Amino acid sequence: MDRIPQTLLYEAIELMRKIGKIPSRKQLMDTFNIPENLARKLFGILEHLDLFTDERLMIKIPAPSDVLRVGAIADLHVGSKSCYEDMLREYLKLANERTDALFIAGDLIDGFGVYKGQQFELKYTSVYDQVQRLNEILDTYTKPIYFITGNHEDAVYKTTGIDVGNLIKNEKRIYLGSYLANTKINGIKIDLWHGRGAGAYALSYKMQKLIEQYLSGKKPHIVFAGHWHRAFHLPIYRNVDGFECGTFQGETRLTKQMGIFPQTGGWFVNIWHSDGTPVIIEGQFWRFYI
Ligand SMILES: [Fe+2]
Repeated sequence: MDRIPQTLLYEAIELMRKIGKIPSRKQLMDTFNIPENLARKLFGILEHLDLFTDERLMIKIPAPSDVLRVGAIADLHVGSKSCYEDMLREYLKLANERTDALFIAGDLIDGFGVYKGQQFELKYTSVYDQVQRLNEILDTYTKPIYFITGNHEDAVYKTTGIDVGNLIKNEKRIYLGSYLANTKINGIKIDLWHGRGAGAYALSYKMQKLIEQYLSGKKPHIVFAGHWHRAFHLPIYRNVDGFECGTFQGETRLTKQMGIFPQTGGWFVNIWHSDGTPVIIEGQFWRFYI
């Protein structure tokens, strides 16, 4: 499929601003005289327009002026029988020494009703028990945590109206919303993203597609992504460093069905910078073998 021409994207954004909502595919086809496949792709981009926000959450934390050390994890799935709580605790212990802040890209708890049969894979069936266990574990990390929720928390919200992020947050654990967040921490622009749907055949495909959607001038320096339970670092793609954050959950019925092999562990990322412009981004994946 063709790439969306930038002028078309700008015009579609203008149209969206004018009508105050995302135009339908038919509206896009009629207004810009484009085929359905292009309209579908354009609609997908507009749906995620908060990626292009100028409004970044400004964060200032105590750290040396030339280096920022952060941890990045995702898909902890606390509450699942196959969550490796001990490993998570071990990672957080190390993170206390090696980082100044921690980012979590969604699926902190396992939730319930996410897919057929998931209830049989739970160690704690109550969401409140899951959150309590999670909070006990996160309390062992002494620095600030910035997190988004993912599809597992979203499933809880859809069935009960409970916003799990509100149960996790406190003065040290900052809740940045669901699926996406844009931050600027000590001058470094870091986005959090929790993906949707099945993974692609090629490991880096989803990350590349995400980074391609950013408009010039609106790009972050770093994206930390969760959802696919994989770990990799895509360096300087359109000058953005993309990280998929791995997981702390082993195999489940769903991952087996989807052919996903979990990559367990979390990142330690050191960002050397000159007044908020990164010069070296170094990622180390702390892994454990299961
Ligand atoms: Fe997950």
